Amino acid sequence: MPLVDGFGRVHKDLRVSLTDKCNLRCTYCMPEEGIDWISKAMHLTLEEIIRVVKILCAEGIEEIRLTGGEPLLRPDVVELVKALNKIESKPAISMTTNATRLDVLAQDLFDAGLSRLNISLDTLDREKFKELSRRDGLEETLSGINASIKAGFEPIKINAVLMRGINDDEALPLLDWAIENNLQLRFIEQMPLDAQHAWDRKQMISREEIYQALSKKYVLEPVGNRGADPAELFEVKGTVVKVGIIASVTEPFCGNCDRLRLTSDGQIRNCLFATEESDLRIPLRNGADDQILKEIILNNLAAKKKGHGIDDSNFVQPIRPMSAIGG
Ligand code: 5AD
Ligand code: SF4
Repeated sequence: MPLVDGFGRVHKDLRVSLTDKCNLRCTYCMPEEGIDWISKAMHLTLEEIIRVVKILCAEGIEEIRLTGGEPLLRPDVVELVKALNKIESKPAISMTTNATRLDVLAQDLFDAGLSRLNISLDTLDREKFKELSRRDGLEETLSGINASIKAGFEPIKINAVLMRGINDDEALPLLDWAIENNLQLRFIEQMPLDAQHAWDRKQMISREEIYQALSKKYVLEPVGNRGADPAELFEVKGTVVKVGIIASVTEPFCGNCDRLRLTSDGQIRNCLFATEESDLRIPLRNGADDQILKEIILNNLAAKKKGHGIDDSNFVQPIRPMSAIGG
């Protein structure tokens, strides 16, 4: 039975957060310190994750995207990809990562059956990288990207978030670099998911600003029919590269949302901005059968709101930061 919510949206994409830990501290996602980590005992085990994923694949999930925090900090990640690849319905297995550990892991992940990679990279400037992520990680990230190209991942999509006064002059350098390296690039409008709750709409670099910045040098030709893809895609004229803009705030795409989330502590979330979650961890550990787990998931889905409501006067930012929800 397909996973349909109250607005008729069919859910095919499951985001599975493997950990809330990260070796970077990007300002739009995590605080510098004082983080209330999810304890080890509360993290779902590999077997528990597989069990939930299997139940959902039987209901029509077609893509499993592994996220975090930083999913590659989880020691059993290659084993998990192998196990997910054995699921009968053959979902696509993808991952969003900061790439810092891909230098070591890219080939093993590729061989284990990971099919798609999204890599976060907001700047090519070492100092700006340090300011944005509070760690000196540019070199590791770039060698992780090179290792994934070598391993055979295709396409590799780069995600960039522009922050005013930090890397808002990086739109063009990032696109130049993506063209040189034949990588797909997507800019994401910053969303109110930072741990400091300091997001300010006026500070956000909008789709329009990004489009204008890129158009100074390139002609962008719209690619139609985006389906459930949150990115508005453009072909960069004269190149084989596509650039996307994910206008989560100024042009929300909630009407086509097909995503459901499982946090690393076993909560089902029907939206990044959901303020309520449904716990699967305790029922899983108390011996609940598949039918009970499925009912919990379906009830959660039935309560999915029409949109994220960032523009509503009564909008409340979720308590969890992005790092604990899973991008
Ligand atoms: N707004 C927009 N994008 C974000 N990401 C993390 N936090 C935010 C935010 N507050 C991005 C990361 C990653 C993807 C999963 O989401 O850069 O690429
Ligand atoms: Fe880590 Fe990604 Fe969050 Fe940055 S955006 S702190 S890389 S989880």
